[in-house]
Amino acid sequence: MCGIVAYLGKKTARPILLEGLKRLEYRGYDSAGIAIVTDGKLYLERRVGRVGNLEEAIDGRKEFDGSLGLCHTRWATHGGVTDFNAHPHRDDRHGIVVVHNGIIENYSALKQYLQEKGHTFASQTDTEVLAMLIGELYEGDIEKAVQAALREVTGAYAIAVICEKEPNVLVAARKGSPLMVGIGSDNEYIVASDGAAIIAHTARVIMLDDYNVVKITRDGFHTTDIHNTPLSPKVQQLEIDLEQIELGAFPHFMLKEIFEQPSSVRACIGGRMNIREGKVVLGGLSSFAKELTKASQVILTAQGTALHAAMIGRYMLEDLAKIPSHTEYASEFRYRNPVIEENTVVVAVSQSGETADTLAALYEAKERGALAIGVVNVVGSSIARETDAGVYLRVGPEIGVASTKAFIGQVGALALISFYMARKRYMSADQCIDMMKEMEAIPAKIEKILESAPRIKKITEKYIERENWLFLGRGYNYPTALEGALKLKEISYIHAEGMPAAEMKHGPIALINEGMPAVFIANRGRQYEKVMSNIQEVRSRGGHVIAVATEGDTEIAKHVQDVMYIPDVCEPLSPMLAVVPLQLMAYYAAVARGHDVDKPRNLAKSVTVE
Ligand code: G6P
Repeated sequence: MCGIVAYLGKKTARPILLEGLKRLEYRGYDSAGIAIVTDGKLYLERRVGRVGNLEEAIDGRKEFDGSLGLCHTRWATHGGVTDFNAHPHRDDRHGIVVVHNGIIENYSALKQYLQEKGHTFASQTDTEVLAMLIGELYEGDIEKAVQAALREVTGAYAIAVICEKEPNVLVAARKGSPLMVGIGSDNEYIVASDGAAIIAHTARVIMLDDYNVVKITRDGFHTTDIHNTPLSPKVQQLEIDLEQIELGAFPHFMLKEIFEQPSSVRACIGGRMNIREGKVVLGGLSSFAKELTKASQVILTAQGTALHAAMIGRYMLEDLAKIPSHTEYASEFRYRNPVIEENTVVVAVSQSGETADTLAALYEAKERGALAIGVVNVVGSSIARETDAGVYLRVGPEIGVASTKAFIGQVGALALISFYMARKRYMSADQCIDMMKEMEAIPAKIEKILESAPRIKKITEKYIERENWLFLGRGYNYPTALEGALKLKEISYIHAEGMPAAEMKHGPIALINEGMPAVFIANRGRQYEKVMSNIQEVRSRGGHVIAVATEGDTEIAKHVQDVMYIPDVCEPLSPMLAVVPLQLMAYYAAVARGHDVDKPRNLAKSVTVE
């Protein structure tokens, strides 16, 4: 969603800020703004639309050449998409500017208080209220004013603040929304909400914790809490490669990440399977082995693509480890007064580790006594930190807004957790060895599917004029059908519904008309015959069937319009293959329809508001 980059150092801030902002574009935004202090004066510019618009607006303007500044990409929550509502926001007295990710929940009461004190507001945002509050409390020390203001606010924030009257100071703080400080050489600092904006300059960072306030000057920095108690955060290494966040030869990050999936799986499983002994090695779970052995139920909670992976995880936990398991939207779980029995394990699945609903569900589960496990990609993210134990996906930064390699990583990690728990209960070493061998073969099988990308492109292009699609699957591949439909919606803006193939007869069958595309996941497995019957039901009503089928199944080609083949695979891991042609279809459909695949309208990569 929103992105923050701030700089204090010896160089000209502008190119560093704008480059950082461009690296955060993938997170989704609708407007951008920048403020720079040059020769003791503050200059500010904001623009609706792309970072490029903002760049143009300040191009060649010498007043933006200072070495202290901050900038922001905004994804509207409070107030419409206008230049005035874009960040930075400034107070009306001292030249204080603020960029902010998150939501100040008590902004309306604070606004009223500030209006009574004579402040006038130019925007409808909660952030402007925070800027004014800092201004109201300012007595010549911006760090103190920020601490005082943060003692008054409720809600979530990551903020960076500068003040015209203190041209050598940058203050940043966080609660509930990520923020880190990159420490460059020679007293150079970059504050950002995402390591992608820092890594080109330094890998040494401090990850701020909730209620941390950092004051950066040209001589160094110090950290306190909001009550001014000194803290000593530790300096860490950012685990990001510049190569991972650059396009290379690919036209879009989404395509790059689809093609990275064989290596994503290799990274996810690497060193975690002792195939000779039938043992799963998950260091992140080892201290809770006992609790996991006696788990009475598992609740997997997530949003979006991560929820689809969680659904597959549920099937695996029940099928392989025989543990009663459920999945639920995190947003629903937290508000429905869930019953958490003794020995319940809650698994929060999240690429970013920052999804507000998933984080809130996690807090709820912990409060009710559950053991909380994270299946997260971003190392050190809020969910990773708040869980008792966890398994990282290890798929590297995912930039494409439509999640692809993280999905594969989530299913891979959940499979490993299932094998691990199954081994502690009913699964023999031999059975586990068989499953692990299947897993080990997945990367090469994905590579094989990727070789057929040109064919998948051709098939997709036959249907791109159609505005309504169905995605149908059964068992392990019902969630895959949901994921296929979600991918198509997200980037090609085609209406698509995913559902269990058997459910189609209970209503959606009425939608089928001449030529309507219906994508069936019809790989060989327990439900193959049933899926074949469902295919006939669509065909006899004029629908066009595109099947994802197992290599060698030539029979199916006689009953459907198009086939996309995947290698033979055991059922539990089949979604890791079946999803790949669906990802490619969505990608090629979006490109053919002329959409910006990596910047889909209205979407944010990480949804940090409820
Ligand atoms: C957003 C993204 C989706 C993602 C979902 C959950 O909606 O656009 O791609 O699946 O959030 O995100 P998480 O980071 O928790 O996996």
